[in-house]
Amino acid sequence: VHKDEQLFVDTALNLVKQAGTLVRMAFEAKECAVNTKASDTDLVTETDQAVEKLLIEGLSTSFPDHKFIGEESVSGGAKTEWTNAPTWMIDPIDGTTNFVHRIPMIAICVGLAIDKQLRAGIVYNPITHELYHAQVGMGAFKNGFRIHASATKELCRSVLCLSMGIHNRTIFGDSWLDKAASNMRNQILAGVRGHRSFGSAAINMVMVAQGSCDGYLEYGIHSWDVAAASVIVSEAGGVMLDPTGAPFDVMSRKILCAGTPELAKELISTLTHVEYDREA
Ligand code: IPD
Repeated sequence: VHKDEQLFVDTALNLVKQAGTLVRMAFEAKECAVNTKASDTDLVTETDQAVEKLLIEGLSTSFPDHKFIGEESVSGGAKTEWTNAPTWMIDPIDGTTNFVHRIPMIAICVGLAIDKQLRAGIVYNPITHELYHAQVGMGAFKNGFRIHASATKELCRSVLCLSMGIHNRTIFGDSWLDKAASNMRNQILAGVRGHRSFGSAAINMVMVAQGSCDGYLEYGIHSWDVAAASVIVSEAGGVMLDPTGAPFDVMSRKILCAGTPELAKELISTLTHVEYDREA
C-alpha cells in the first residue's frame, strides 16, 4: 500500500464534494449547451468539462507527479497514459444524457490506480446526495454506512442492470443489436425478475454494490465509467469479471458484475460476446 494513499483519497473526496456543488447548480439551471463527440448519441456539456478541470487541477496541485485518464481530456485528444504512477480515472459526469434530460441519475466518478491496480473509488450523485466510496481492504460505504452486494445465486431471482449499448452501433453496425437483443431474450427466458438501465454505468454498479440489483453487464464502456465503481462493487463483496468469465480488465471496454459467482456464471451462459480493442 502506498504510504500516502489515505491522503490521496481524502483529497479526492473533498474535491468531489466541491464538484458536486457545481453539477447541482448546473442541473437546476435552465440552459444547457450540448455538443456531440464520437457520435450523435455521445453527448458533452460545459459542466462535464468544468468538473473534469476542477478535479484534475485540484489533484495535480496537491500531487504534481500523478497521472490522469479523464473522459473529456481523452475526447479532447489527450493520450491514455497507463503506467505504474498513481493514476486518477475520472468521469466528471457519468450519465451525461441523463444530465442533459434532467434525469437525476448522474455520478461524478473518481478512481485511483497505483501500479496499475485499482485501489480506491468514489462515486457521487450530487442530485440525490448519495456518496459511495471504497478502498481496497476497507469495505464499501454509502454516506458512511457499509453496503453489501446481494446473495442471490439464480437468474430467476434476479434484477439485472444493463445497457443496450447505444454507442456500439457506431462500431459494430446493426448486427450488434441482434446480439444485444438475443442476450436480453436469453435472460428473460431464464426467468429474470426484470431489467433496469439507469443511464450511468456507475449508478448501475452501485445498485449492485448495495444489493438493490443483482447483476450488471455492458459492452462498450470506458475505463473512466467503471474504474471507481469497480472497487466499490468488489469491496461490497460482489464479483467483477469480464463478460467471458475472464478476470476483469478495466481497459477492456467490457464489464460484468454480480452479487455472487454463481449468478455471474449463469449470466455468462446467456451471452454472445463482441470484442473490442483495448483502451490502453
Ligand atoms: C455513459 C453511461 C452509460 C453507458 C455508456 C457510457 P457518459 O457514460 O455510463 O450508462 O451506457 O456506455 O458512455 O458518457 O455519460 O459518461
